Amino acid sequence: MNEPWTPASWRSKPGKHMPEDYPDAAAVARVERELRAMPPLVFAGEARRLKQLLGDVSEGRAFLLQGGDCAESFKEFGADNIRDTFRLILQMAVVLTFAGGKPVVKVGRMAGQFAKPRSSATETVGDVTLPSYRGDVINGMEFTPEARTPDPERMLKAYSQSAATLNLLRAFASGGYADLYNIHRWTLGFVADSPQGARYRELSEKISESLTFMAAIGVTPESQPDLHRVDFFTSHEALLLAAEEAMTRVDSTSGDWYDTSAHLLWIGERTRQLDGAHVEYFRGIKNPIGMKVGPTLEADELLRLIDVLNPKNEAGRLTLYGRFGSDKIDARLPGLLRATKAAGRNVVWAIDPMHGNTLTANNGYKTRPFDRILSEVKSFVEIAKAEGVHPGGVHLEMTGQNVTECLGGARALSEGDLADRYHTHCDPRLNGEQALELAFLVAEKLKEDRVEAPQRAAV
Ligand code: PEP
Ligand code: CO
Repeated sequence: MNEPWTPASWRSKPGKHMPEDYPDAAAVARVERELRAMPPLVFAGEARRLKQLLGDVSEGRAFLLQGGDCAESFKEFGADNIRDTFRLILQMAVVLTFAGGKPVVKVGRMAGQFAKPRSSATETVGDVTLPSYRGDVINGMEFTPEARTPDPERMLKAYSQSAATLNLLRAFASGGYADLYNIHRWTLGFVADSPQGARYRELSEKISESLTFMAAIGVTPESQPDLHRVDFFTSHEALLLAAEEAMTRVDSTSGDWYDTSAHLLWIGERTRQLDGAHVEYFRGIKNPIGMKVGPTLEADELLRLIDVLNPKNEAGRLTLYGRFGSDKIDARLPGLLRATKAAGRNVVWAIDPMHGNTLTANNGYKTRPFDRILSEVKSFVEIAKAEGVHPGGVHLEMTGQNVTECLGGARALSEGDLADRYHTHCDPRLNGEQALELAFLVAEKLKEDRVEAPQRAAV
């Protein structure tokens, strides 16, 4: 790690989950040159702002909500999808802000989430074996040799889709769509329609009362333009390092390197090797970054990774996303929380309750039970509280669309329902109702936390 860092220094380290079988190396080099000439998607100043907000999270003053598709795709691209997921994140954020009494930092898994690590490099159907689908930025999902061959042109298409997505997100965030009163009106519609609506009515009515009170004393979007807009950030797993390198630029104000493809980038569970290419790339960029922490990671290795990724122990620089599974979190999380706390490491601890709770249904669909997802989030809040660590946030795979990919929820989706609208290009996502329901149930948990806090302080 003492070698000098450059945006390309990862190339001399072993890298996992990146394609090595592009048929035409010259075409790859040409695409990388073209990407290097493209404008940045985000500015360094915005990434610094997110880092500051995540610093507030690390100090217990805010909560992180991060969510979006497991894998964005060229096929599912469209204004409605972007709008619906954006709106859902804002609805969830209002519920969580109200219950937790803290601002919610909103980050989409959007505008660049295209590359996927896969459990197997190949896929076999009948007696045909082909390379696995690795995400639309690399190859195609269709089970043909042509589609599964990596194609560098896809990097340019992913760039342009990310740019268009971000453009729309920026318009939604600042152009009035994000009006707090509107967002809450949509949530009232959800509560009215949900079979579990009675359970959510109390909280939603309290929010309505607060808004009515605010309007009565003159705090309206007209008088307070901030109620009309939101800060919204983008993120993805920086897996395909050639594309990330091409978007890595020097910030003219600080002289530092930023990955300008998103505000926040994270390292996945399968690419966080200390001596690997991904850790090497991440140590040099100045964006706020994240890392997935699964059930096999031991405390000493976690601390070594933290030393490499956040050597100056800066607040907001590093977010850790636990992803253990509802049956493993009790055994794995406490020791890790204790280790970072005892060593005085400034990190945000958040929970990804999706990736440890995946199973294959009897009919072959990859799915996730809502109850296990909820259970892992609840355990996270309880364990963090018991260890004296702020439960900093949640990271979800979700969509505003009415898909049928995860089991359960208020409509009790069953295995037989999965085939109806199973559209994901990778892992199963919570649908709009399930995600909002989760926000209400997590809000109940955060509220308990608030009520108990003064009693604990008095003991
Ligand atoms: C993901 O977030 O889609 C993912 C692959 O997660 P993990 O790296 O935690 O397995
Ligand atoms: Co996933």
